[in-house]
Amino acid sequence: MILIDGKKISQEIKDEVKEQVSALKEKIKRDISLAVILVGDDSASQVYVRNKKKACEYTGMRSVSYELPAETKEEELLSLIDELNEREDIDGILVQLPLPPHMDENRVTLRIKPEKDVDGFHPVNVGNLLIGNDGFLPCTPAGIIELLKRSGVPIDGKNCVIAGRSNIVGKPMALLMLRENATVTICHSHTKELKDICKRADILIAAIGKPKFFTRNYIKEGAAVIDVGMDRDNEGKLCGDCDFEDIKDLCSYLTPVPGGVGPMTIAMLMKNCFESAKTRALTK
Ligand code: GUN
Repeated sequence: MILIDGKKISQEIKDEVKEQVSALKEKIKRDISLAVILVGDDSASQVYVRNKKKACEYTGMRSVSYELPAETKEEELLSLIDELNEREDIDGILVQLPLPPHMDENRVTLRIKPEKDVDGFHPVNVGNLLIGNDGFLPCTPAGIIELLKRSGVPIDGKNCVIAGRSNIVGKPMALLMLRENATVTICHSHTKELKDICKRADILIAAIGKPKFFTRNYIKEGAAVIDVGMDRDNEGKLCGDCDFEDIKDLCSYLTPVPGGVGPMTIAMLMKNCFESAKTRALTK
């Protein structure tokens, strides 16, 4: 089994972005800036946001941070987004999810200008992905494609099974694998014969949020397995959706948790911010 090192591959991407950022800044004579908005005090979100800001610093971009209390009115958040949409110096806008329950995530996502939606969550970007036009790609699925390609895992013509149908991972993942000419199956909580379907996968992407759910009875010998889970086991230890120890000798490729998919999400966010600045500078 070849362990796919997401930390190493994400570092390569961040280093590539860093060089591109430096060259672009030289050319356009201004900073490249990402606005990061965090509402409330969810501890996981705080960690993600901190890591995103650190990655901006590493790649030479500026992060502009907004930390709003949980009881902030949705209207206030929407006005902040309006202001950031209009600001010439802001290239990307990111609202960390989940939002507090009194806010409507769809309404908030819709308010971000598609040209600044570096998360790729706006319906315009989702629609562009669906029909195969250019647009921002959601960071986690785009990062998984990079992991597979840079590790030399063939995708064209392969059977790819995606477990999970979220808007952030499962659904866009299916579209990206389709774009790479895989034969794609999406499974979810109502799927019958889940084991049999997973056992036919050349590439299995696990994104259901259940600790160590995928054991060896779900895995075809020689499969490439990508674990998107960020779960806690019985002892409270961070683990993925796959039972790593149980499946490792069956897989041809496997991503660890942590150190697999996680770091890729942030590297692809940096790539999207750079692309946004480049496009905005060229189309002004
Ligand atoms: N919450 C979980 N994943 C993500 C992500 O990729 N972007 C944002 N903004 N929030 C998230």
